[in-house]
Amino acid sequence: MFVTGGAGFIGFHLGKKLSSLTSNLTIYDNLSSGKVENVKHLPNVHFVKADILNLKKLHSQEKADVIYHLAAQVVVPYSMENPIEDFETNARGTLNVLEKARKDDARVVFASSAAVYGNTTQLPTPETNGFSPDSCYGLSKVVGERYCNMYTKQYGLDITILRFANVYGPRCHGVIEDFLNKISRNPEQLEIIGSGMQSRDFVHVSDVVEALILSATSDVAIGETFNIGFGKTTTIIDLAKIILKILGLSEKTVITTTNVPWHGDIKTIWFDISKVKKTLRWHPKISLEDTLKELILERKMRG
Ligand SMILES: NC(=O)c1ccc[n+]([C@@H]2O[C@H](COP(=O)([O-])OP(=O)(O)OC[C@H]3O[C@@H](n4cnc5c(N)ncnc54)[C@H](O)[C@@H]3O)[C@@H](O)[C@H]2O)c1
Repeated sequence: MFVTGGAGFIGFHLGKKLSSLTSNLTIYDNLSSGKVENVKHLPNVHFVKADILNLKKLHSQEKADVIYHLAAQVVVPYSMENPIEDFETNARGTLNVLEKARKDDARVVFASSAAVYGNTTQLPTPETNGFSPDSCYGLSKVVGERYCNMYTKQYGLDITILRFANVYGPRCHGVIEDFLNKISRNPEQLEIIGSGMQSRDFVHVSDVVEALILSATSDVAIGETFNIGFGKTTTIIDLAKIILKILGLSEKTVITTTNVPWHGDIKTIWFDISKVKKTLRWHPKISLEDTLKELILERKMRG
């Protein structure tokens, strides 16, 4: 098995699970945002520090039966500032990984994103919504998906595309981590970027790992695209209030908003997950309310 981007947030959790299931796991990551701590304690793992843009290096790796392709430039505002780099990593990098899959005749699971839908009015959003990305990140993921479709159609590769909503859990990055960092620096004030009325569909990383593994092992997943979310949307201001309540800071911390969203931001992410529930028999088990407390505690313990 071969995991690109395995030193990142989702990759860490996937690697942990896979290393308990197989003794033949390669994690391939250039550590641009990933951390070596995320892989070094895993048993049965061969770690390769390299770039997916290095096709020669990719081809020189041992033959893989399954490739989980997670490596990506994942930051939306960064993609707007650096569209070429974003395209290189997410579009050309995906094409390179697909070439390795073609050479190995490997099964592929590709990590795509809610960003491919952009600001859609169809809420909750089903997979049939169509592409309308509002960021360079979303567009480069569309290109990655399109190449996956092409490799399925023309080369007969077994590929599954998973569009993730907002994934959270231990070691995550993103809005929850950002809020906790801000509060620990200054518990008097919590600034939200944008109006706070933007909302997200939060899905726990352990549910995501289950979806990834099911996609690589279930015949009904081949050639399919699935939304992976919780199927519920939470405004960012409500998220801030829940976090402050857990921390016992509701009375102390003042929430402020910049009222200016970041470049390429989406107003609402809210997935229709009926297809994945029906076809793959996957359903999210962990709700945001149930786990935020645990997540905050775990983060405190890591220091
Ligand atoms: N976390 C989320 O909420 C979320 C939502 C939607 C989609 N996704 C997708 O899921 C995947 C994993 O996301 P994540 O949250 O774990 O991100 P992450 O940034 O934590 O992990 C990405 C990993 O890819 C590696 N990487 C980046 N460029 C590379 C390159 N050129 N060559 C080799 N390795 C490279 C990084 O070092 C990092 O370890 C990404 O494809 C992302 O677009 C994540």
